[in-house]
Amino acid sequence: MAEFTLPKNSVVQEGKTYPAPEGATNIQAVEIYRWDPDSGENPRVDKYFLDLDTCGPMVLDAIIKIKDEVDSTLTFRRSCREGICGSCSMNINGRNTLACTKDIGDIDGPIKIYPLPHMPVVKDIVPDLTHFYAQYASIKPWIQSTTPPPPDKERLQSKEDRAQLDGLYECILCACCSTSCPSYWWNGDRYLGPAILLQAYRWLADSRDENAGERLDELEDPFKLYRCHTIMNCTETCPKGLNPAKAIAEIKKLLVERKIA
Ligand code: SF4
Ligand code: SF4
Ligand code: FES
Repeated sequence: MAEFTLPKNSVVQEGKTYPAPEGATNIQAVEIYRWDPDSGENPRVDKYFLDLDTCGPMVLDAIIKIKDEVDSTLTFRRSCREGICGSCSMNINGRNTLACTKDIGDIDGPIKIYPLPHMPVVKDIVPDLTHFYAQYASIKPWIQSTTPPPPDKERLQSKEDRAQLDGLYECILCACCSTSCPSYWWNGDRYLGPAILLQAYRWLADSRDENAGERLDELEDPFKLYRCHTIMNCTETCPKGLNPAKAIAEIKKLLVERKIA
């Protein structure tokens, strides 16, 4: 069997340890990936011991407590704290999810926090989502229609047409699914990935949109769409309970249907 040694600077090193406050009895260990590109140092994992009796119930509460009371250099993203903005997505104990909706009580042993996998890191647990957002823009995520809207009115939908968007409109673009997808890890430069493809289907399924033909032309590509091999990690991990793999299958179905129509 081939054996190789990793270069010294590719190793995540053990970092600093921050002990629990004196007198704490309900102690939780939290391990967090740390990397500051400006320091020139290797990434490390710091360990924090928190008093859960003075901490909120969610993993994001623990991270905020560390930032506020223990180590102000810790860098992370968050906004809504309600599972709506999608900015606190990260890898917690091996699973991509939202820190603000992940209950500390559901985790056995130390909480282990890393950035979303296979994305460039800006700093600590903040991933660089520039490419992900550019891919989102590429699917033209807005209504395209040549029919002018009725004067002084919205474009209306029937209840049935509106229901076609259920399971799609709830996507908060947190990227948990795309960064759990092996096909996206290896081909993310050209494969759109589950999040963006779910969004692409959201506009194909919208009865008010009149540009399905061009949207499908854009998606009919061996890399943009057909790198999905139905591995299902995306659906398994989505913290909003959505099913991107099904949306991808629906796009493939639309492409077959128009071929035999
Ligand atoms: S489908 Fe789910 S996991 Fe993927 S971006 Fe949308 S909300 Fe996040
Ligand atoms: S079903 Fe497709 S998009 Fe989802 S994880 Fe698998 S390959 Fe990726
Ligand atoms: S802070 Fe907005 S989804 Fe977690």
